[in-house]
Amino acid sequence: MTMAKQKKFYQCQACGYTTAKWMGRCPDCGEWNTLSEERKDTRKREGLVSGAKAEPVPLNELEADTSVRVTTGIGEFDRVLGGGIVPGSVVLVGGDPGIGKSTLLLQAVALLAGKVLYVSGEESPEQIKLRAERLAISSETVSLLAENSLEHVMQATDGMEPGAVVIDSIQTMYTEDFESAPGSVGQVRECAAKMMFYAKRNGVPVFLIGHVTKEGAIAGPRVLEHIVDTVLYFEGDRGHPYRILRAVKNRFGSTNEIGVFEMSDAGLKEVANPSELFLSERPQGVAGSVVASAIEGTRPLLVEIQALVSQTTFGVPRRTTIGMDFQRVNLLVAVLEKLAGLHLGGMDIFTNVVGGLKLAEPAVDLAVVIAIASSLKELPVGPEVLAFGEVGLSGEIRAVSQAELRLREASKIGFKRAIIPKGSASRLNDKFGLEIIPVGSVSEALEAVGL
Ligand code: TYD
Ligand code: MG
Repeated sequence: MTMAKQKKFYQCQACGYTTAKWMGRCPDCGEWNTLSEERKDTRKREGLVSGAKAEPVPLNELEADTSVRVTTGIGEFDRVLGGGIVPGSVVLVGGDPGIGKSTLLLQAVALLAGKVLYVSGEESPEQIKLRAERLAISSETVSLLAENSLEHVMQATDGMEPGAVVIDSIQTMYTEDFESAPGSVGQVRECAAKMMFYAKRNGVPVFLIGHVTKEGAIAGPRVLEHIVDTVLYFEGDRGHPYRILRAVKNRFGSTNEIGVFEMSDAGLKEVANPSELFLSERPQGVAGSVVASAIEGTRPLLVEIQALVSQTTFGVPRRTTIGMDFQRVNLLVAVLEKLAGLHLGGMDIFTNVVGGLKLAEPAVDLAVVIAIASSLKELPVGPEVLAFGEVGLSGEIRAVSQAELRLREASKIGFKRAIIPKGSASRLNDKFGLEIIPVGSVSEALEAVGL
């Protein structure tokens, strides 16, 4: 047996940058106090490459077998994966603590046909059992293992030969090959790499749950995203029941898909028609509320945009934005002041996307400006009106992609009129029974809705 060669180095726990010398601040990502000592056991590398030796195969002789996907029975989950689980794939499911990752995976694997090993480094089997009862899952195929040692997990898989493995969470796992603490970049990456080898060698799909830090990265390593096949993010606002599962990387499918769920007393429920859900509690005849049509992935979503404009009582006007980019909303406020002649200078302006959704699409601009104008003038916009379009700095309304998809959804939900960019209107093949009002500028748009 060769002696383990130990190499000492320092690694940034935020971005994975490595250096031979300790520093107070990571020169790569600029974070303070994130460099910690890691030791690399070089033996391990040799261990990883041993095993069956691969031979080069001509491309035309290879058979790509993506038809063998396994479906979970949770349609939204399968769709985000690209049509089911690919055997031997490693899927990282990231999200804020408490958002529902453990719930989602327990529900998803409970419906699988084969045996499943659910490893929890965070909760006891009793706790998971309680959750399963709440979810009305009494599966004899799911076995629970409360374990933090990856080596012990591997031993368990040897005896059981599961059809799928869940690691909840990757931050609680450690491998003996590595000296640093569980959750450090080195441990997380090494454990993930080992699970990757396990998945590939045995053709078993592996799900890794990963907590997201407040900066939004999967704790420790961005490097993890490069190792795994698929990265899904489970997002939502904890104060709201809606959750969105989003693929941000997928070697076996599109990254455009999203799945929409609702957290209920009995676990996550699929939401087949999200637009209806997001509009279900919309107030009628109230100023400052406009429905926009956003596209999330390949899916149109009708969402209510709300604005509240009120006189500033003292000092500097307050501007608060929830669910949209703050800078973008400020820009829209400036356009309204300068080019539509609205007096917003001494006003507090609050804007909100209802349902805890986060929208990054400029297509919602038009609904935001109409909502702000509607609140300022205290005049409601008809409930059957929908608006989308990007607002430019000279007050022009710019065309947005997939106008037909947005209109079809609106028509399905029962909208009657759509305020849309001229550029998009001229390219429509179908109006879906809606009255289309093409607008070229912010002023025209406000006029069209009587503001
Ligand atoms: P959990 O799956 O433990 O989140 P994560 O693994 O991402 O940390 O879910 C946590 C929250 O979900 C918790 O606050 C309780 C809530 N919840 C429900 O509302 N209904 C349910 O049926 C379950 C199981 C959880
Ligand atoms: Mg959990």
